Amino acid sequence: MKKKVLILGSTGSIGRATLEVIENQRDTFEASGIVCRDNIGLLNKQIELFKPQYVCVFNKKQEKDVSFDKKRLFTGIEGILRMINTDVDIVVNALPGSAGLIPTIETLKAGKILALANKESLVMAGRIVSRLVSESSSRLIPVDSEHSALYQLLKDINPKDLKTITITASGGPFRKHKKKALELVSPEEAMNHPTWKMGKKVTLDSATLMNKGFEVIEARWLFDIGQDRIKVLIHPESIIHGMVEFIDGSFTAYMAVPDMKIPISYAINEGNIRKLPFESLCLHELKRLTFYPPDLVRFPSLRLAYEALDAGDSALVVLNSTSEVASQAFVEGKIRFTDIPILIEEVLDKHDIIPIIDDLEVVWEVHSWAKENGEKIIKDKR
Ligand SMILES: NC(=O)c1ccc[n+]([C@@H]2O[C@H](COP(=O)([O-])OP(=O)(O)OC[C@H]3O[C@@H](n4cnc5c(N)ncnc54)[C@H](OP(=O)(O)O)[C@@H]3O)[C@@H](O)[C@H]2O)c1
Repeated sequence: MKKKVLILGSTGSIGRATLEVIENQRDTFEASGIVCRDNIGLLNKQIELFKPQYVCVFNKKQEKDVSFDKKRLFTGIEGILRMINTDVDIVVNALPGSAGLIPTIETLKAGKILALANKESLVMAGRIVSRLVSESSSRLIPVDSEHSALYQLLKDINPKDLKTITITASGGPFRKHKKKALELVSPEEAMNHPTWKMGKKVTLDSATLMNKGFEVIEARWLFDIGQDRIKVLIHPESIIHGMVEFIDGSFTAYMAVPDMKIPISYAINEGNIRKLPFESLCLHELKRLTFYPPDLVRFPSLRLAYEALDAGDSALVVLNSTSEVASQAFVEGKIRFTDIPILIEEVLDKHDIIPIIDDLEVVWEVHSWAKENGEKIIKDKR
């Protein structure tokens, strides 16, 4: 029997890569459900190619243009939740931002395998998600390349032997920019990532290093490890994705070409390596691998993420939610690139910390509070 895969965000960067992996592993998988928000042109092509059992379009207004049997076509978040509760085996959550949180929770409650690309679920509600994973029969396997690397490196090691883990970062398109030059960068320049082709929000987060901050938080919850033992290293070649340091001073590192199909395949194969027909690493062609520490003065977003982890659960929600507001404002030309972390810090400073959140309602209350406050600051400054 083929495994049934539901892809939330099938028209996005991770969603398209997932379909490519499925296309190459047709003996094992079928894309039984696909979901998008607006891109009906591509959705219709995917329907024709993959013949899913169910389809969902988030934006209800687009429903009429979808070429699919209306009885198996759903809309909105209710539609996504219905699809999770069909007979699917694996859910790939490749939705961006806070939109991914409810589907993550529902997938875990339904006892399905969760291949999680939506790191924001863990940033906003890591404690709740971790509890659900430990209490339910489901499994969470990370899709983020760094976390997939660490997941594999940490398998079967004795926790007593572990000293630190390291997440690498390409450094983004502005890694060589002086602080002053960063004030002038445009949204178009920020969208030009040197090594990865990704969706807009994650590409912008890579340019500010907020993405790395989110990944530190993601690692804290996934691997139950204190933030003081999670390191970040800039590694422009994006070949080593994660490293583990042991108490005797030795390291192990995970290397691969920067291609999301590798961690996607690992995740949907439930933590198993499968042969892939894509480009692989040619070690003798690598001229060098370089590493240096991140500059938290030019890229304060990463510092804010560590500080939010120290502060408590609600600070993590504020970090994510204000980041969504600030990123949107930058893309719309309302604030400068360097204003993004300033705005996030301003909202964090106004916030009364709730150290532990184990209720989803509270997450949404803090989320709304942070969005409102972020938007108000932007409006007042204009
Ligand atoms: N791209 C990468 O290489 C990468 C690597 C690691 C982790 N991630 C994480 O994976 C997630 C997705 O990233 P991405 O780069 O694939 O994003 P993306 O290219 O922007 O794709 C987002 C997908 O989600 C759909 N979508 C957006 N909002 C939705 C909503 N409210 N309801 C239903 N569908 C919605 C989009 O539909 P439309 O096309 O119709 O708008 C699209 O299919 C993010 O959390 C990101 O941080 C990405």
